[in-house]
Amino acid sequence: MTEIVHVPLGNRAYDVHIGPDLLARSGTLIAPLLRRPRVAVITDENVAALHLDALRDGLARAGITMEALALPPGEATKSWPHLTRSVEWLLAQKIERKDMVIALGGGVIGDLAGFAAAILRRGVRFVQLPTSLLAQVDSSVGGKTGINAPQGKNLIGAFHQPSLVLADTAVLGTLAPRDFLAGYGEVVKYGLLGDYAFFEWLEANAPRAAAGDMAARITAVTRSVQMKADIVARDETEEGERALLNLGHTFCHALEAATGYSDRLLHGEGVAIGCALAFELSARLGLCPQEDPSRLRAHLRQMNMKTDLSDIKGDLPDADALISLMAQDKKVADGKLTFILARGIGQAFITREVPHDALHRLLSEALANRR
Ligand code: GLY
Repeated sequence: MTEIVHVPLGNRAYDVHIGPDLLARSGTLIAPLLRRPRVAVITDENVAALHLDALRDGLARAGITMEALALPPGEATKSWPHLTRSVEWLLAQKIERKDMVIALGGGVIGDLAGFAAAILRRGVRFVQLPTSLLAQVDSSVGGKTGINAPQGKNLIGAFHQPSLVLADTAVLGTLAPRDFLAGYGEVVKYGLLGDYAFFEWLEANAPRAAAGDMAARITAVTRSVQMKADIVARDETEEGERALLNLGHTFCHALEAATGYSDRLLHGEGVAIGCALAFELSARLGLCPQEDPSRLRAHLRQMNMKTDLSDIKGDLPDADALISLMAQDKKVADGKLTFILARGIGQAFITREVPHDALHRLLSEALANRR
């Protein structure tokens, strides 16, 4: 029941395996990539408690030994101190240029361990073993690695493609429902940005996937990864089309900053709300059918997800302050914001021509609806 998506990037090409038994099969799949039967694993304490023994056993089946560093869970780990600690630990483990680092965890660990691998000895190879839905469908694929700066998220980093991605869908069964649904925000994004048929499939099948249906989970992850692989293959370093993957993210980053990157709003929740705002703005600008934003909101509600600004508890700043937070987004060029808008479900496009008035009105009304 394993699916394989190939990411065709010339001499940096790799496969993404998606299925329910990949931790157990990790040794067999990783062994052909190794010069010597020994790997260094970077993970977090929560993931280690749940999955490190299964990984150790899976590797041991192919005669591979491992050492592991378990970092504190949470976004604060994507920082200079933990990067320093990781790199120095890898050096202490005598990880050489031809060795392999393994990132076992969600987006934070994948980004941090990938960046540590990118800069260690000017670049060692690494394998992504994503354990969250968000990491399986988005951050483990495509080679973006990095850490956060005090000035903003992901501002320090490198493109460094993994050598292999093993997305074990059985691991998703250990996620809290809220974390699963936050990751689902990135899944629905793929249908919205480029695949109407996938969005329709999600309307019919995503509730089953959320309830634990393995076949539906594998299909949802595979189709998401396939779409990401296709886009990354055409635009690895985000000169153009790859920016479509940021649908909903300009709004999301402002909302995450406004809520202090706290558990008031998880990243994937912000993506879902951001997608709803992007479709609402597209409809108001006459770019997409009026019914599309309502259809998207209905689907998010069907999934019990946060959909509107009114679903975010506590205070939010006013529309001007939210727009200023958007202007700190790293996608700003020549002072102009980049937005991903849509001509319909499955038809997103990139624009830098969003009238300030329309944006201001959209946010003011969304904020007024909270009161
Ligand atoms: N998460 C967006 C990208 O990988 O380009």
